Amino acid sequence: MKAFVLDRYQKQASLRLADMPTPELREDEVLVEVHAAGVNLLDAKIRSGEFKLLLPYRLPIILGHDVAGVVVKVGARVRQFKPGDEVYARADDFRIGTFAEFVPVKEASLALKPKGLTMEEAASIPLVGLTAWQALVEKAGLKKGQKVFIQAGSGGVGTFAIQLAKHLGASVATTTSAANAALVKRLGADVVVDYRTQDFETVLQGYDVVLNSQDGKTLGKSLRVLKSGGRLISISGPPDPEFGKEIAAPGFVKLVMRLLSSGIRRRARGRGVGYSFLFMKANGVQLQQITRLIEDGAIRPVIDKVFPFSSTNEALAHVESGRAKGKVVIKIK
Ligand SMILES: NC(=O)c1ccc[n+]([C@@H]2O[C@H](COP(=O)([O-])OP(=O)(O)OC[C@H]3O[C@@H](n4cnc5c(N)ncnc54)[C@H](OP(=O)(O)O)[C@@H]3O)[C@@H](O)[C@H]2O)c1
Repeated sequence: MKAFVLDRYQKQASLRLADMPTPELREDEVLVEVHAAGVNLLDAKIRSGEFKLLLPYRLPIILGHDVAGVVVKVGARVRQFKPGDEVYARADDFRIGTFAEFVPVKEASLALKPKGLTMEEAASIPLVGLTAWQALVEKAGLKKGQKVFIQAGSGGVGTFAIQLAKHLGASVATTTSAANAALVKRLGADVVVDYRTQDFETVLQGYDVVLNSQDGKTLGKSLRVLKSGGRLISISGPPDPEFGKEIAAPGFVKLVMRLLSSGIRRRARGRGVGYSFLFMKANGVQLQQITRLIEDGAIRPVIDKVFPFSSTNEALAHVESGRAKGKVVIKIK
């Protein structure tokens, strides 16, 4: 099968288009013929070697985490899916590789593609949708009437998270540049802060939840917009000891996580707010719930650009520019 392969960790390294063997299927997996693949910053971060400690991949590997496509084969223990089903998923860690014609996915990580979405639209959803779900529903338990501040509302995670938070009945503040203000308002944002001309911590106060996706300075400022008892959830680091436990990290990795997050955890405690790091996980059950929200019209995909398979490197570069409005997708079939 044709696939885009990473040969060595390097910033902006070009992925190599290669002929690779179709992956061997395990008993609990289905083989998906990839019609479209979503592109995430995680792909660029793995490529640069930034995730070596957390996800120690042995190279060469095929990159790509999001897939929409058709089931072509199922493992012996698979019960819920059959050849011909249209599905989507966030591929499993250490089984990634959606920038290819076929990818294996655990049954437990898969869901039926929402009816009414194109393959490209469906491929844009899993990683960012599950991130928003795991931050706002699972970790924060966001409730009707609460106030949530979602940073970078015009990005992949932000465009989904705003819609999910509104569906849950929360009031939403977000940051973006002026050019994207209309987009985030259309998605439901109640308060829009232009991060280029305004400091959000002078505008926002008394928030229940902050979803942080930016740098360390922004993380620190985020503490000041929370009310006592509020929750700061960061998807851009630093990882905390709880997370180290959750992934059963080796002792030295746990120590690094403890040290990296000691400052923000201390400051959070001092203000009476909770800090937690989230690294999203593949989850088919949650993805089914997301399918329902999309079919009910509560959430719709926001796509910045669809690239042809041959332009996979250009698609990654576009995501890395940090300017995408919503999601970037590669059309494979
Ligand atoms: N831990 C996890 O599980 C997890 C999961 C998903 C993503 N992430 C991380 O979360 C971050 C966001 O991911 P993403 O996919 O949403 O990114 P993205 O789609 O690439 O974000 C691009 C958007 O961010 C906006 N932006 C850039 N700088 C900003 C700033 N300083 N303040 C507010 N908005 C800004 C841009 O708007 P303008 O053009 O208007 O500036 C653009 O629309 C990344 O670091 C990613 O690696 C982590």
